[in-house]
Amino acid sequence: MSEREQALKRAGDLLTGADYTVAGVRALLGPVAGGALARDEIVPALRATGGGSPLETLTRLLWIQEPVPAGALAGAADLVAAGLAAESGGELRPLLRVEPLESVTGAGHAGYAVSDLKVRPGSGERVRPDHVVGVGGASGSLARLVVHSPVDNVLDLGTGCGVQALHVADPAVRPRPAALTATDVNPRALRLAGMSFALSGLDGVELLEGSLLEPVRGRRFDLIVSNPPFVVAPGDGERYVYRESGMAGDEFCRRLVVGAQEMLTEQGYCQLLANWLHVDGVPWEERVGAWASESGCEAWIVQRDVQDPAEYAELWLRDSVETGTPEYRRRYARWLADFERQGVTGVGFGWITLRRTGVADPAVRVEELRHPVEQPVGAYVDRVVDGLAAAQEFSTSCAQLLRTAAGVVQEQIGAPGAEDPERILLRQTGRLGRAAGVHSVEAALAGVCDGTIPLEPLVGAIAQLMGLDAAEVRAHAAAVLPELVADGFFEVVPDAL
Ligand SMILES: C[S@@+](CC[C@H](N)C(=O)[O-])C[C@H]1O[C@@H](n2cnc3c(N)ncnc32)[C@H](O)[C@@H]1O
Repeated sequence: MSEREQALKRAGDLLTGADYTVAGVRALLGPVAGGALARDEIVPALRATGGGSPLETLTRLLWIQEPVPAGALAGAADLVAAGLAAESGGELRPLLRVEPLESVTGAGHAGYAVSDLKVRPGSGERVRPDHVVGVGGASGSLARLVVHSPVDNVLDLGTGCGVQALHVADPAVRPRPAALTATDVNPRALRLAGMSFALSGLDGVELLEGSLLEPVRGRRFDLIVSNPPFVVAPGDGERYVYRESGMAGDEFCRRLVVGAQEMLTEQGYCQLLANWLHVDGVPWEERVGAWASESGCEAWIVQRDVQDPAEYAELWLRDSVETGTPEYRRRYARWLADFERQGVTGVGFGWITLRRTGVADPAVRVEELRHPVEQPVGAYVDRVVDGLAAAQEFSTSCAQLLRTAAGVVQEQIGAPGAEDPERILLRQTGRLGRAAGVHSVEAALAGVCDGTIPLEPLVGAIAQLMGLDAAEVRAHAAAVLPELVADGFFEVVPDAL
């Protein structure tokens, strides 16, 4: 182990010993200072960390990014030797940002992510083109999306500060994978990711420099995770590598999707965040659905948000702290002109989950879900994809065993006092929180499907009870059940498949 790595290990012990964790810092700051800091306002956080305890000092230095008195911290020498801080004039100054990570299960500490210092609005500083970004909202979204099942061999593509690899290695989620590979096109990112892993005690991560899938061509992984440089920016030569690939439009995400299959083991997952263009006259679902079909994998693609061209340009100019700079108007206008030229009417933000499978016609679902869903999605994303695959194969053969999914409830809507409801809804109280308007036949099925009795006798009994024709009830069930299976209201009991 090099001297730097040894110092990073000691620095990691210093940080955990001081409870420099998300829970520790959250309790220290409280909701008001914590909320202000999330808006890049540091004054409340400075007031909340003035007591001089090790946790307060570390929070000031490594999170708020303020100098602290050099004598305030036993172990300061380790931070300096680790390359995280510099000492001069009696002060300790941060050189890098160190963010604690919380397990996506909410059950404790998941390591430390080392990134470049955050450039805050009003500081007068510029974001450097090779800036290594810290843990953002997108990092958290992807970490919460990643499937929880055990995996041996994982690729974190575009690792940046290493946050995804650290989450994948979190033993509160799954046993630590035997092999972890992290790639990035930015050598500076690989250096900082290496520091994150050393500080977090995560040994043996393979770090490879290169673009897209190139550094790992010919290899296969059980899981590929990527929070890629998905930002669609004008190709005017000014590029931030942490968010822009340099490829035109949404080409980077498309290439990753269509190239994933040959890098996955059987039943392996590739999960990424993406932005996709809404192009005038082309339904977005068709454009992105074509990527999924070309991938040859089962695919679940979810649009979580859409922004119009102006909102999009403003968002990313704010992100790179360019709002209010002399170049702002020029850059903003360039962005709009570029979108106009391509017929772009908006940009979608979303999740892509692919699963490699041997089937000839894999299930593909492209949909919009804008409402809050149960988190972490990774705890049940495999069931979502299972549901899509089961619906694709669903045979109306009534030998099938169905089970009403956990958390499904029935709601009835109608005039007060009325004997019969006007509408019946099945609603998921957890997971994706879907609701479906149903006929009384499906509602009755939801009441009795427990995975033990095949569909045929259940349909017969329901028809008899409701005074309906059994053949009609069977035909109705056959028409509506696949969609309800795909949506996760019913699950096909695996042995029956
Ligand atoms: C949005 S950051 C994500 C960082 C981190 N994985 C996370 O989840 O926060 C995208 C990362 O992709 C890297 N990157 C940019 N272009 C790339 C390319 N062509 N191939 C691989 N990685 C690239 C950037 O250097 C950056 O670290």
